Amino acid sequence: MSRAQLIEMTKRHLAHAQAGTVDQAPGVLRVPAQHYTDPGRWRREVELIFKRLPLALAFSSELREKHAYRALEVCGFPVLLVRNGQGEMRAFVNMCSHRGAHVVAEGRGQARRFMCPYHAWTYTSDGELAAILDGDEFGEVDRSCLGLTPLPVSERAGMIFVVLSPGEAFDFDAALCGYGEILDHLGLADAHVVGCQSVEGPNWKIAYDGYLDFYHLPILHRKSFGPDIGNKAVYDTWGPHQHVGMPLPSLKALAAKPEEEWPMNVLLAGIWTIFPHVSIATFDADGPLYMVSQLFPGATVHESVTLQTFLSPEVPSPAREEKIQAQMDFLHQVVQDEDYATGKRIGRALTTGAKPHVHFGRNEGGGQAFHSWVDALLEVEGPDLLPLFSQAVGPRVR
Ligand code: FES
Ligand SMILES: [Fe+2]
Repeated sequence: MSRAQLIEMTKRHLAHAQAGTVDQAPGVLRVPAQHYTDPGRWRREVELIFKRLPLALAFSSELREKHAYRALEVCGFPVLLVRNGQGEMRAFVNMCSHRGAHVVAEGRGQARRFMCPYHAWTYTSDGELAAILDGDEFGEVDRSCLGLTPLPVSERAGMIFVVLSPGEAFDFDAALCGYGEILDHLGLADAHVVGCQSVEGPNWKIAYDGYLDFYHLPILHRKSFGPDIGNKAVYDTWGPHQHVGMPLPSLKALAAKPEEEWPMNVLLAGIWTIFPHVSIATFDADGPLYMVSQLFPGATVHESVTLQTFLSPEVPSPAREEKIQAQMDFLHQVVQDEDYATGKRIGRALTTGAKPHVHFGRNEGGGQAFHSWVDALLEVEGPDLLPLFSQAVGPRVR
């Protein structure tokens, strides 16, 4: 089913390659400059987008074993991910029921029990409160109500998605709009995490705009990727999630082959973004190397942090490890010194108020759709936002 979708996508890209065309939105979109600079709007984005939608916080392969855990803080929200004794992934607010300490220090590990570092209350990998130090002296409490607070969690396509709103139930299928099935083809579930690094960036939307934008590639990145890299983009969408493809002339060779023989690496080429904060790109380092960029708002409207996690289908040999490290260093430098350095300057320029708008061209439909989804989500208060995902939210022309 989803290979058929990949074939349909690629046929569309091939048609563009043959005709020398790109996708074009109905008009040029103007986005108010203050959408990138207003602290009040930014806080609403964090609350209404980052705390209501599934975020891809970790990878199945890094938490494969029973009782493997990872503790991390996302938008100031302490999260504990743990695979329980039955092999199921659980997510909790990493906060002690006694007086609110973080129960598990940030990082990864393996543990059947988690002991709070403040007064030693202890929890199981299912989040149950297992022990209270000096319980007789502490006094009567209902332990069954004092476990860790669960968060909705689901593993899809080798990624662990969590919603930062306490509760067990969440309709991940509705939010992913069938995209998880297509991402399965990337094979991240069986890939190995081979590296991780982080980059400090500008406002999260300035940063995210760049992941949907091929228009800038041969210009901003002419010294790193070279001036011959294409700047044409074609977009395929599953709700707010977008694939950015390139209608490369090399695709024309596919026309001579039966569709069943079209190779998976060609069908999967391009950038896979997961709204609101992930971009997956494939590079070569003596074999495929996936770079998954997880983008998070930082401490202020003008800051973000991007975690770049690198995954390989095979455990790399020592020789390949060197190649992977060189590719990681290169990509860190490109994103930090080219994309995000530009983005930070954009943030400062927009703050001057000199321009009321920025523009997304008809050839920048990905950015148009992204901003339309952000606007639409900010208009829906309360938890019942999923009906929006079953509606077409098209680019709006201002
Ligand atoms: S805050 Fe955790 S045991 Fe006291
Ligand atoms: Fe870029």
